[in-house]
Amino acid sequence: MTPSTPPSMLPPLTPEEAEHSARVEASIRRRIAEAGGWIDFETFMELALYAPGLGYYSAGSAKLGPAGDFITAPELSELFGRCVARQCAEILAETGGGDIVEFGAGTGRMAAVVLQALAELDALPERYAILEVSADLGARQRERIGELPPALAERVIWLDRWPAEPVRGVVLANEVLDALACQRFVSRPGGIQALGVGVAPEGHLVALERPAELRLAAACEAILSGLPRPLPEGYRSELCLRVEPWVRGVADFLERGAVLILDYGLPRSHYYHPDRGEGTLRCHFKHRAHDDPLARVGVQDITAWVDFTRVAEAADAAGLEVLGFATQAAFLLGTGIEALVARVGDPAARARAASEARQLLLPGEMGEAFKVMALGRECSGPLRGYAHQDLRVSL
Ligand SMILES: C[S@@+](CC[C@H](N)C(=O)[O-])C[C@H]1O[C@@H](n2cnc3c(N)ncnc32)[C@H](O)[C@@H]1O
Repeated sequence: MTPSTPPSMLPPLTPEEAEHSARVEASIRRRIAEAGGWIDFETFMELALYAPGLGYYSAGSAKLGPAGDFITAPELSELFGRCVARQCAEILAETGGGDIVEFGAGTGRMAAVVLQALAELDALPERYAILEVSADLGARQRERIGELPPALAERVIWLDRWPAEPVRGVVLANEVLDALACQRFVSRPGGIQALGVGVAPEGHLVALERPAELRLAAACEAILSGLPRPLPEGYRSELCLRVEPWVRGVADFLERGAVLILDYGLPRSHYYHPDRGEGTLRCHFKHRAHDDPLARVGVQDITAWVDFTRVAEAADAAGLEVLGFATQAAFLLGTGIEALVARVGDPAARARAASEARQLLLPGEMGEAFKVMALGRECSGPLRGYAHQDLRVSL
C-alpha cells in the first residue's frame, strides 16, 4: 500500500478549499443529526464524494492530473490506453463488432487514446458510450473528445443512465470500483461493529462504532466464515456492498462480450489478511496519500481497494464468467506494451515511453497492486491480456 503521509506533512488547504470543506462538513453534520447522531461509512463516503454540488467528484476541483490530487494509469501514459485498446480489439473481433461502454471516464483521456488506437487497428466500435456520475468530469471529457477527429468524436455518446438495451462489445471500468462508497467495520469480541461517523462534542466529525446492521453483518459473516483464521480483536477493514449491484447491472445489459475491471485490489484471502489490520482505505490530497477520511471532507479523494473475490462471486451469481485475473504488469505485457515502446521512433520519446512503462509495470509502482479482471458472456477467449499470467486460482 502507498505509505500514509503524517497529517503534519500534508499541504495546507487554500482559503477556498477550507471554505468548501466547511460547507460539505456542515451538510454531513446536518445529515448525522437527522439520522439520530450516526451514519454508516457508506453514507458518509457517498456524501463526501458525490453529494450534488458539494462532494469531491461533484464540485469543481481538479481531482486527476498534476494540478489535482492523484494520477491514474491512463493519465500517466498513453501506453495504458493503447494496451487496453488491443484487448478491446480482440474482444470486438470475437463479438463481431459492437460498442464500448466506459464507466467513470475521468478526464476522457483513456477514451480518446482507445479510440485513436482502435482506428489504427481498424477495429473501431460502433459507439463509445460514457457513463459518468460527475458533471464536472463529464464536461472535461466532452472537451477532450472534442479535440479528436470528427470521425472518432462522433462515435462518443454520454449516457445519463445505464443502458436499457442489450449491449454487445466491451465494458471498461478503470479505477471506478475503488471509488464506490464502501462500509467500514471493526472486529470486536462481541461480533462485528460497523465503523461509521458521528459528531464529537467539540463539533468535528468522529469515527463511531455501532452494531452492524443486518446486511453488513451478513456480508462480514460470509467473509469471516471463509477465512483460515478469525480476525484479531480491533481488526478494521472495508467491504463494498455496491459491488454486487454494479456487476448485476452490467450483466443485465451485456448481451455478449467482456467487462474489463482495472483497479487496485486483492483476492479475499490477501485483502482480509490478519496483517492488514488497518484495512485498505486511502485518501488522496495533492498527491499525498493518507488514511483520515474525516479530514478535508469534500476536497480529497477517498478510495478502498477492491476485493476481487467479491467481484468474481458477484459475476458468478449474475451469470458472467471470470475470463481472466492478472496483475496490471502481466496484463500490459500480454497486450504488447514492450512492442509499443520499441516502435516509438524518436529516441527521446522512446526513453520517455520506457520510463512510463516502468511506472506501469514495476511491482513497487503500479504493476502489482493494480489488477485486471475480465468477466465475459458468450466470449470464450483466451484473452491476450492473460497470456502471461492467470491468477484466477487465487480468488
Ligand atoms: C478515480 S476516478 C478514475 C477516472 C478514470 N477512469 C481514470 O482512470 O483516469 C473515478 C471515476 O469514476 C467515476 N464514478 C464514480 N462512481 C461511479 C459510478 N457509480 N458510475 C460511473 N462513474 C462513477 C468518477 O466520477 C470518476 O470519473
